[in-house]
Amino acid sequence: MSLEAAAQLNSDPERLLFAYWVPNVSGGLVVSKIPQRTDWTLKSNLQYARTAEKYGFEYALTQIRFTSSYGASNQHESVSFSQAILSGTEKLKVIAAILPGPWNPAVAAKQLASIDNYSDGRIAVNIVSGWFKGEFTAIGEWWLDHAERYRRSNEFMRCLRGIWTAPEDEGFTFAGDFYRFRNYKLSPKPVQKPHPPIFQGGNSEDARVNGAEVADWYFMNGNDLEGFRAQIQDVKARAAKVGREKHVKFAVNGFVIVRDTEEEAVRVLQEIQGKADVEAINAFANEVKNAGQSTKDKQGMWATSTFNDLVQYNDGFKTKLIGTKEQVAERIVLLKALGVDLVLTAFLHYEEEVEQFGRDVLPLVRQLEAQGRGKDVEYEIQQTGDVYRKRTA
Ligand SMILES: Cc1cc2nc3c(=O)[nH]c(=O)nc-3n(C[C@H](O)[C@H](O)[C@H](O)COP(=O)(O)O)c2cc1C
Repeated sequence: MSLEAAAQLNSDPERLLFAYWVPNVSGGLVVSKIPQRTDWTLKSNLQYARTAEKYGFEYALTQIRFTSSYGASNQHESVSFSQAILSGTEKLKVIAAILPGPWNPAVAAKQLASIDNYSDGRIAVNIVSGWFKGEFTAIGEWWLDHAERYRRSNEFMRCLRGIWTAPEDEGFTFAGDFYRFRNYKLSPKPVQKPHPPIFQGGNSEDARVNGAEVADWYFMNGNDLEGFRAQIQDVKARAAKVGREKHVKFAVNGFVIVRDTEEEAVRVLQEIQGKADVEAINAFANEVKNAGQSTKDKQGMWATSTFNDLVQYNDGFKTKLIGTKEQVAERIVLLKALGVDLVLTAFLHYEEEVEQFGRDVLPLVRQLEAQGRGKDVEYEIQQTGDVYRKRTA
């Protein structure tokens, strides 16, 4: 398919959006000793970003980590890295990860508003709430319990939106438990109106409350059909209670392995898992107990993840975007039918696979969408739903 034809397919307002994880930390997106042709430097990332925008990816998502965990021994900072990618691209939007605690909303609102101006309105933010106590301790940040971390994130997001949209004459005033503002007037304001999109990462009940009540996007970890369905229904119901049911959009993480045959793709998955970095994963498994598992209903990210699931640190194998290009495209339209608005991808070999996905899978999804697929959930479940009921590895 020519790039012009691809551009046309990628302009339908009803289309599913695609994002990819930016490898701004070393070690790639899997905690495995398998060789990966994925590099964390800015130079390589500019190449991945330019490829992604050429093929119709809408967003790139950077990661924030202050110290090493699960093998990522080097980590570039997320906001500055996002800005660097934006200055080397033309259309791609970049979602910068921000961690309340190290950041306060005044700094974040100011930084992101400026970047939105430099990039003609292409910055977005992912508010993450922290799961890694060792990281907080290492940088002298207080470690709040789970509910308090999310209450702080809730205020943080309200402050961001408030600062960005406050009336010119009055500015922004807020008296919370974590943050306070008095007639604060931000100038320049962001270019995007009403403001840059606010994503939030986290899947526990506390996270679902924030997703429904404050964020623009609810970001899900990898999951299976029933897991996605339950979360989307729950967040929609909570959003409806506060009149935001039409406002909240849904994004899911999925690790993509597309090969010529399904057997080949599954073999790659098995090799990634077979060569898992056992020590790093065991340390990670111990740390993630501070996430959803630590709450009273014990639900949330990683709460039911097996060792093999954790080899992709955001449960991306569970989404099963693993097979031939046709199989993966079919599974993606099933996600769309479930109510997903954006698929966040990750790859073993960024050097080739961002382009392969853009060239081989994305147009197939667009063709299925053009045929009206991805709307009737029961039909899509009949087509491909059984794949989520059996375990591949
Ligand atoms: C798509 C996505 C991206 C995330 N990115 C980061 C990140 O860059 N840094 C970070 O510390 N946590 C990140 N998180 C973790 C979340 O903020 C949160 O701590 C984790 O999902 C645990 O959620 P739970 O406690 O609600 O179960 C991300 C989560 C998701 C779903």
